[in-house]
Amino acid sequence: MAYGGALSLTTTLFMIAGYYLALKTQSSTLFCKDGDFKQFLIKNVPVVREKYLPSIFCFNGYVHTAVAILFRGITLPIDTVNYERENLMLNDGGEVAIDWRYPKSDGPHSLITVVILPGITGDSQVEYVRETVNELFENGYCSVVFNYRGRGGMRLKTARAYSANNIEDLTEVLKHVKSKRPNSPIAAIGFSMGGILLGNFLMSNEQADKKYIASGVLISLPWNVTQASHNAESSWLMLQMSENLSYHLRSVIDKNKDVIFNQKNNYSLNYNRIKQSNTVRQFDTEYTIKIFNYTDVYQYYKDATLNGKLQRIKVPCLGLSAADDPFLYFKDIPTGEADERSNVAILVTSAGGHVGYLDTFWPFVINKNFMMRLVQQYLDSIMVDNNYDQFVSS
Ligand SMILES: *[C@@H]1O[C@H](CO)[C@@H](O)[C@H](O)[C@H]1NC(C)=O
Ligand SMILES: *[C@@H]1O[C@H](CO)[C@@H](O)[C@H](O)[C@H]1NC(C)=O
Ligand SMILES: *[C@@H]1O[C@H](CO)[C@@H](O)[C@H](O)[C@H]1NC(C)=O
Ligand SMILES: *[C@@H]1O[C@H](CO)[C@@H](O)[C@H](O)[C@H]1NC(C)=O
Repeated sequence: MAYGGALSLTTTLFMIAGYYLALKTQSSTLFCKDGDFKQFLIKNVPVVREKYLPSIFCFNGYVHTAVAILFRGITLPIDTVNYERENLMLNDGGEVAIDWRYPKSDGPHSLITVVILPGITGDSQVEYVRETVNELFENGYCSVVFNYRGRGGMRLKTARAYSANNIEDLTEVLKHVKSKRPNSPIAAIGFSMGGILLGNFLMSNEQADKKYIASGVLISLPWNVTQASHNAESSWLMLQMSENLSYHLRSVIDKNKDVIFNQKNNYSLNYNRIKQSNTVRQFDTEYTIKIFNYTDVYQYYKDATLNGKLQRIKVPCLGLSAADDPFLYFKDIPTGEADERSNVAILVTSAGGHVGYLDTFWPFVINKNFMMRLVQQYLDSIMVDNNYDQFVSS
C-alpha cells in the first residue's frame, strides 16, 4: 500500500511538473496569407489569439491523444443526443444513415445546416461528435452527422465501405441535404480522416460546379496521409492505438461477412488476411484498396493526401491542428501553403493531441473547450450575412 501510495504521489508530482513545463512553452499560430480572411478571423474568432492550455492530465501529445480517445466520455459527461435518423439508399445499392439534430426553434442560426464527418471509426455517437452537435444545438444550428457505410449501427448492403478520397457517398448525402433544406447554406466540419474526405470533396469538381459547401472546418487532420500512416506505426504506444483503430475497422468486416464474401463479389479479398490486420495501413492494403481499385496502398494515401493541393479549395476554410498530434508532426502540416492562401487558414496550437483539446486544468468538469469555442466563434461569424461569400477565391 505504502509503496503504491509513494508511486502515485511520484506520478502526480511528475505530471504536475510536466504540466508546468509544458505551459511555459504553449503558443498558437494562425497560418494564412495576410489579408481580409486572416483579419476577419483575428477580429471575429478571438480564440485564434488565445494560447491553448491543456488539461493537467495531458502533459504530452501521446498521453493527450490516449486520454481523449479512451476517457473523453468519462471526463466530460457529454449528454446523449436525440437524433432523428434517416436512411439513405445510394446509387450503387449501398445504404448509409444520416442523423439529424434539428434546431429547437427558429432563430438567427436555424437556417444554417452543419454537416459533420466523424473520424474513420467514428459515428454520430462518438464523444467529440456528440459534444459538437450539442454545442451547435445550443446555438440554434441544424446539424446532421454522416455515418459512413457500415457505421452508426448500419449493416453493409454491398462490399464497399469507407474511403478517404472517394467522394461519391458524401456527394449523395449533400445532394439530399440540399433537397431537404434548399435555402440553407451548408457548413461542414471534418474530424481527422473525416476531414481528409471533406478536404478532398472541397477540392472536387462536384464542389466547384454545385457549390454545396459554403465553408469548412478541418480538425486534427492527418494532412499527409502517407506520413501519418508511418507515424501510426512508429512506437509501441502508437501501435496500441493503431491496433485499436484496426479492431474497429475489422469489426465491420466481421459483422458483414455474409455480404462481403458472397460469390457476386470479385475483389480477391482474403478474410484471414483482413482479420490479421493490426494497423490501418494493413487493413487498407487488404481491404480498402481492393474495393476502390488501387493496386498499391501508398498510391491511395498519396491521392488522399491534401498537402500540395490547398489551392484547389475555393471556399473559406479553417483548420485546427496541434503540433504535438502524434499522428502528424508539425513539419507535415501544410502551414507554408496556408500562408499563401487567402481563403484557407490553419491554426496550429503547440498542444492538443489528436482530436484532444481537453483543456480545463481539472478535466472532470463540464466546460466549453477550446475546440468547441473555435467551432462556435467561426460558424457564428462566417455563416451569418453570407460572410463566406466575401472570401471565395477564384
Ligand atoms: C507526404 O509524406 C511522405 C512521407 O514522408 C513524403 O514522401 C511526401 O513527399 C509527402 N507529401 C507531400 C505532398 O508533402
Ligand atoms: C479499443 O478501445 C475501445 C474503447 O474505445 C475498447 O472498448 C476496445 O476494447 C479496444 N479494443 C482493443 C482491441 O484494444
Ligand atoms: C475475377 O477476378 C479475376 C482476377 O482479378 C479475373 O481473372 C476474373 O475474370 C474475374 N471474374 C469476374 C466474373 O469478373
Ligand atoms: C472497381 O472496378 C470494378 C471492376 O472494373 C468496378 O465494377 C467498380 O465499380 C470499381 N470501383 C470503384 C470504386 O471505382
